[in-house]
Amino acid sequence: MDRDALKRAAAERAVALVTDGMVLGLGSGSTAEIAVELIAQRVAAGLDIVGIPTSERTRVLALRLGIPLTGFEAHARIDLAIDGADQVERGSLDLIKGLGGALLREKIVAASARRLVIVVDDSKLVARLGSRTALPVEIAAFGWPSTVERLQAYRPVLRTAGGMPFTTDGGNHIADCTVDDTIADARKLEAALHALPGVIETGLFIGMTSAVIVAGASGVEELTP
Ligand code: A5P
Repeated sequence: MDRDALKRAAAERAVALVTDGMVLGLGSGSTAEIAVELIAQRVAAGLDIVGIPTSERTRVLALRLGIPLTGFEAHARIDLAIDGADQVERGSLDLIKGLGGALLREKIVAASARRLVIVVDDSKLVARLGSRTALPVEIAAFGWPSTVERLQAYRPVLRTAGGMPFTTDGGNHIADCTVDDTIADARKLEAALHALPGVIETGLFIGMTSAVIVAGASGVEELTP
């Protein structure tokens, strides 16, 4: 099975959890976008839901596919958020997210959701967060060089696009950090990063996951923390 087929298999299982009347968090990234497409198919067939997108990209996709959208002003709580992840720690199901740049809105949606269901292929599962991928940290555009300086212990690399600092949907920048080989204490790291002026959000999603639907060669499995 190729990666796209695995992503689709995970997304299909998650979208089967959607029922009439739900307020849905619509995730970002290639796997979450498959879920958005599947939700749209069900909406076209009569499913009655509203969605809150986690990025402008997902908002445009959802609108194009005919998913009715809402916002926090109308719905403060989300019934079910379906999103992807860059890393999933086995056991705790803590996450690293944000390689797609949508971490701030994704975290607000995740924190507002009764259930956060993560859809991944099995390449995202790790024994300990921090290996293999960077930890994205969203920083204010104002004074970003000084914030990057304060992040030095975490070997920050300012994310760029077209030779310019990458700008998030919230108008911020991202410093991709490296934290040894693995993160020993994610909560401590999260607190340390948030204590630095200029840091807006981190890609650590700790204690937020309700379930991870993971697709691999041997099938689709649902993990709970
Ligand atoms: C977006 O900011 C990220 O948090 C995504 O959830 C993440 O990059 C997963 O994307 P893929 O499903 O494309 O791997």
